[in-house]
Amino acid sequence: MTRTILGLSGSLRRASFNSGLLRAAAEVAPDGARIQIGSIAEVPLYHGDLEAAEGLPPAVVTLQAQLAAADGLLLVTPEYNNGVPGVFKNAIDWMSRGEGLAMFVGKPVAVIGASPGGFGTVLAQDHWLPVLRTLKTRPWFSGRLMVSRAGGLFDADGDLTDDKTRAALRGFLAGFAASL
Ligand SMILES: Cc1cc2nc3c(=O)[nH]c(=O)nc-3n(C[C@H](O)[C@H](O)[C@H](O)COP(=O)(O)O)c2cc1C
Repeated sequence: MTRTILGLSGSLRRASFNSGLLRAAAEVAPDGARIQIGSIAEVPLYHGDLEAAEGLPPAVVTLQAQLAAADGLLLVTPEYNNGVPGVFKNAIDWMSRGEGLAMFVGKPVAVIGASPGGFGTVLAQDHWLPVLRTLKTRPWFSGRLMVSRAGGLFDADGDLTDDKTRAALRGFLAGFAASL
């Protein structure tokens, strides 16, 4: 049976390293697993009055349906100021509303990321942990992937060009998929 992993990139940038890393992940997913690439691009800023008046925005409803149907969740996170980017946290906050909260409970979650600096999003990845705990997810801790010096590993369109990183990504996904 094929396992589905919902993959989300936390960047809206056209040539994003993290979106490129997610596309590469979809390419190297192991047999028996597929990565469905979701999008946070159309998720508005969280606004309680909007939620009360109109319910969940369409982009959030779509993401929740994708999450509900997925066996696991892959967060591909940039790092901003040593933490989680606001746009990414905002999307997860929206997804946790309404029936969404229950969809996170017990969900296996893996976190990876890429940055041009030397630490490869290690602090942003750790910053996700209290969120994942609060949502009662099941974070996968048996592998780590921090892609540093990303400027030399992706092309101008944000596509991954580095074979070593691709191999590390393949190994990471094989481990995560095997845990599902
Ligand atoms: C507001 C802001 C803060 C940033 N802070 C960090 C940081 O703390 N650590 C880091 O490695 N990169 C930091 N960066 C650089 C990002 O890693 C870089 O912009 C990266 O390309 C973002 O990911 P993306 O390519 O997927 O859009 C920051 C960038 C922005 C815009």
